[in-house]
Amino acid sequence: MKITLVMIALLTSACATPHTRDMLVHERRDNVPHGYTHKGPAPSDQKLRLRLALTQTDIAGLHSALYAMSTPGSATYGQHLSKDDVTKYVAPKSESVDAIKSWLSENGLSATTLSPAGDWYGFETTVAKANELFHAEFSTFLHESGQEAIRTLSYSIPASLERHLDLVHPTVSFPDQRSNVPVVSAPLPLSARAPSNDPIPASCYQYLTPTCLQELYGIPSTPAIQDENQLGVTGLIQEYANRADLRSFLEKFRPDLSPNNTFSFQSIDGGENSQNISEAGAEADLDVQYTIGVASDVPVTFISVGSDFQDGDLDGSLDIVNFLLSQDNPPQVLSTSYAQDEYTLSRRLAEKLCNAYAQLGARGTSLLFGSGDGGVTGTQYQNKCKADKFVPTFPSSCPFVTSVGASELISPTEVAANFSSGGFSNYFDTPSYQTDAKKTYLDKLGKSLKGKYNATGRGYPDVSAIGYVQIFFQGEQGNVSGTSCSTPIFASVISLLNDRLIAGGKSPLGFLNPLLYSEAGVAALTDITSGNNPGCKTNGFSAVAGWDPITGLGTPIFSKMASALGL
Ligand SMILES: *[C@@H]1O[C@H](CO)[C@@H](O)[C@H](O)[C@H]1NC(C)=O
Ligand SMILES: *[C@@H]1O[C@H](CO)[C@@H](O)[C@H](O)[C@H]1NC(C)=O
Ligand SMILES: *[C@@H]1O[C@H](CO)[C@@H](O)[C@H](O)[C@H]1NC(C)=O
Ligand SMILES: *[C@@H]1O[C@H](CO)[C@@H](O)[C@H](O)[C@H]1NC(C)=O
Ligand SMILES: *[C@@H]1O[C@H](CO)[C@@H](O)[C@H](O)[C@H]1NC(C)=O
Repeated sequence: MKITLVMIALLTSACATPHTRDMLVHERRDNVPHGYTHKGPAPSDQKLRLRLALTQTDIAGLHSALYAMSTPGSATYGQHLSKDDVTKYVAPKSESVDAIKSWLSENGLSATTLSPAGDWYGFETTVAKANELFHAEFSTFLHESGQEAIRTLSYSIPASLERHLDLVHPTVSFPDQRSNVPVVSAPLPLSARAPSNDPIPASCYQYLTPTCLQELYGIPSTPAIQDENQLGVTGLIQEYANRADLRSFLEKFRPDLSPNNTFSFQSIDGGENSQNISEAGAEADLDVQYTIGVASDVPVTFISVGSDFQDGDLDGSLDIVNFLLSQDNPPQVLSTSYAQDEYTLSRRLAEKLCNAYAQLGARGTSLLFGSGDGGVTGTQYQNKCKADKFVPTFPSSCPFVTSVGASELISPTEVAANFSSGGFSNYFDTPSYQTDAKKTYLDKLGKSLKGKYNATGRGYPDVSAIGYVQIFFQGEQGNVSGTSCSTPIFASVISLLNDRLIAGGKSPLGFLNPLLYSEAGVAALTDITSGNNPGCKTNGFSAVAGWDPITGLGTPIFSKMASALGL
């Protein structure tokens, strides 16, 4: 009797799950990321919302088209694609859709499309069912912040789906999103009075405000005029942008603008924007103040991403791009001051997100991301370097975004801020626009720091801007620092250039990097040549003449950028 029961059990499981030999490990991770501990198996009846990323038809074709439309001098320069054009490159083939759908229905599941091109599907299941479907061990991982995440360290898919399915999420990629702004910062390094011959504008002494940036970078204070020119500001991890703080900021630091200037609000995945002043976020306040306060009169939208999908964070990063890609007219500039350590994502997910950024670039959106605030140790200093190897950050490591590092003023020049994250990707190769700039830097570096960084990877940041400013936060004026300051400042410069381009009947800038690394681009930036970003028991990289992995190509010179664009 006993034997029969066992046999029945075996037969049942053989029918319900595919044979082990037909299942191939699709993604795995050897270690839990820093800060997480494994608490044990996730409750089997716990609901999971999983996403499937289907293989895209012609992503290489999209990359080529993107480079052509973004490289000055190319025949298609500035010819951005429509939503339908992008869809043609990235929609999965019908055989892939059919294979995924029939596999889902064999397993009693049905999925909904999560992206305009149909390359993402989502479905809900339980931990028990997901463990069986993917030969996974979904477990509860506790982060030192108290946040829990349900993840598995490995999963498998049927061999027949290998060429149709890029990845399943959330599985082996962990939440690690950090805002790039320390709330309380050290006093500004520049406190001495300006000597009369100091090239640093007097408005930059005591504290840094939009007036200083206007003088330092030549950013015009004349209001922008094009209503169709949009600047999007990303809000993640329950950071709320406060309208009263923004008004106080404008009244004090931009008295020439209407204090009524404010942002539009867009919610994704149930994202909120509480206006209770004690719930204002320093990051969100900084991001709206240094866009609305610098990109005078450019329409700004604050996009708050909630955690309705699974556990926010990475899901939020996916949902915000899919949301923007679904729009007929996505914003021409998106400023994002959040980053995570590259290794906390799987290589497949990092590539998938990077390809989504390439799609937005092809639509004509310039994507600016802060490089991080931990020097060579990653997004934050508390991130540990394994075996003293440097920790690259994402999305900065993606070649299709513009990564922004930080500088500071030390009389008589602008130098690298020591927290400015920079380095080389372990996932993405050097893009062609960067080959020469990177080689020149590595030749100078020689053997020093050898083995601590990946010499074949994409180098970041691409550019930089001041990383210490004054904001209004929860009703009070205060100092903040971080590449979070630099990112909205650089984004504002691009938005003001776009305003003029659009007024002149020209295309907005879109994906910036091939232009920035061109001869005209390099000439329109101030090269930062001193300072370093210590970490992992080293002094980190040093800023040198030319591109370097701490300040990139340098900081903006508005008039030269405008004239390089024929404005
Ligand atoms: C700001 O809005 C208020 C209320 O609508 C209005 O009375 C005031 O004139 C506006 N201020 C400016 C400078 O536009
Ligand atoms: C504002 O937020 C604080 C902190 O979350 C809370 O204690 C307070 O009750 C809130 N005030 C109102 C009016 O909701
Ligand atoms: C970076 O510079 C600040 C201010 O000059 C200093 O307090 C801090 O210790 C430096 N950080 C590192 C990692 O050297
Ligand atoms: C170094 O970067 C390349 C991408 O350029 C990547 O393929 C390789 O796996 C990386 N090596 C290590 C050890 O991470
Ligand atoms: C900001 O920094 C300046 C310059 O060091 C200092 O005078 C001021 O007290 C600081 N303000 C705050 C609110 O910390």
